[in-house]
This record gives sequence, C-alpha cells and structure tokens, in this order.
Amino acid sequence: MAYSYFYWFSLRLNLLASSNEKFLDVVLQSLDCNLVESIPSEPYLSLENNVLSFHSPNFKKPFSFDPFSGKTGFRLQRYEQEGLLKKALGNLKPGSVIFDATAGLLRDSLILSNLGYRLISIEQSKILGTMLLVGLQANSDISGIDIYIGQAEKCAQEHQFDAIYFDPMFETAQSALRDKNHRIISEILDIESISNDNQNTFDILRKCSFQKLIVKRPVKSPSFDNNINYQIKGKSIRYDVYV
Ligand SMILES: C[S@@+](CC[C@H](N)C(=O)[O-])C[C@H]1O[C@@H](n2cnc3c(N)ncnc32)[C@H](O)[C@@H]1O
Repeated sequence: MAYSYFYWFSLRLNLLASSNEKFLDVVLQSLDCNLVESIPSEPYLSLENNVLSFHSPNFKKPFSFDPFSGKTGFRLQRYEQEGLLKKALGNLKPGSVIFDATAGLLRDSLILSNLGYRLISIEQSKILGTMLLVGLQANSDISGIDIYIGQAEKCAQEHQFDAIYFDPMFETAQSALRDKNHRIISEILDIESISNDNQNTFDILRKCSFQKLIVKRPVKSPSFDNNINYQIKGKSIRYDVYV
C-alpha cells in the first residue's frame, strides 16, 4: 500500500507523459505538474512504461527508481550478505515495524523488508516520494512497505515504531560528490527548496519511543550523540545504534 502524507510546499514541474500511462493519475494526485506531450526544457519529469524519471541538464541520464536494476537490484540480490545492517539490527524480531525516516531510493527499506521487517518509509521530497509510489505500485510483488511523503520528525512524533532507521544526506561536500545518486537527490531537494538540519532531526527521533534507533553515518563522521549503545563499522559507513 502507498500513502501520501503531510505535504506543505507547492511545486510545478513539466511532466512529459501520454494520457494512457497507467500511473498518470497517481502522479497527478501527488505532484502538481503541467502535463506536456513534447520534450520540454530541463529540468522536467517523464512518465513512461510505469517509470517516473527526473531529467536534468546536469546529468546525462534520467534519474528514476527501479527496484530491480542497478545498485538497488544488486544489493537486493545479495541482501542476505548485508552483514553490517544485520548486526545493527541485532535481536530485533522479524515482523517488527521499522520506521525508515529517510526513504531516498528505498534501497535500505527494500533490504530491511527482505530481512522480514515491516517498513513505514517516509521521504520528504515530493518528486522522489512520487517515484517511489509509482515504483511500488508498478511492482506489486514488493509488499510490506508503506510509503509516506512528508517530514519524518512529524510522523515519528505522532506514531510509535519498534525501530527507527535514519540515513541522512552526507553533510560534507567531499563525501557527497563521491556519490552520483546523492548529487541528483541534492539537486531535486534544491528544486523543492528543501534543506535539512540532520542534528535537529536526530534529536527529535532520539526522543521518540523505540527499541532501537539505527543511524547510518560515513565511517569518519562525528556521531550525533556520544551515548551510543553499540557501533557496527564497515569500510566506508558505520551504524550507530541507540537502544
Ligand atoms: C541518504 S538518502 C537515504 C538513502 C536511503 N537510505 C536509500 O537506501 O536509498 C537521504 C534521503 O532522506 C530524505 N530525508 C532527509 N531528511 C528527511 C526528513 N527529516 N524527513 C523525510 N525525509 C528526509 C532525503 O530527502 C533523502 O532522499
């Protein structure tokens, strides 16, 4: 199932799509777009064969959410080897509800779902969130993930989850530049005039009720709070776990 939840800013982008696209209504209900039939000037969105893509003059290829290709597909295929994440989850029982506060391209949610957890995943970007809504509806074999569009802080304060997963955007330009997806997401957030205060989001999530709060950090970045219960370190990332 998918929901659209808490939305507060307005945005109007061109959407290139033919009127018989199956998920056109889903997109138009979620995003305020101008529907166009010929290629507009960039940036714009396109909906073709059930995939919503973002086109920018700064990137050669369109950007989209496709759960079974590329990096996501690769990680999904080897989800059992996601040793670091499994260690971070520790004894959290399969079937527990995890709130993914930073859905992004849903890679981590998909892995967690494959490990047997129920996911409530939220994304603040309306463009990214709509890509996820379309992607999940187009791939009905994925179950157990509910998508919301909006602010994690508000949702976490209003609901209770067994665990919270927090993977904020990199804070340093250097780390960010290394990751192409990160650069595209940053451009989308700029278009939507979204900026984050990761420390503040963490502080709010930390006060919520949970058995476990798992925070993904670049391995050398400072932690948001020194009172970490345990840490799982990989080569480039680490998980700070609060219980
Ligand atoms: C580093 S990416 C997450 C990647 C994700 N874990 C994955 O596996 O694809 C961070 C994402 O979280 C979103 N985000 C950051 N802070 C948020 C907040 N307070 N509420 C909702 N979404 C947030 C950003 O818009 C971005 O898409």
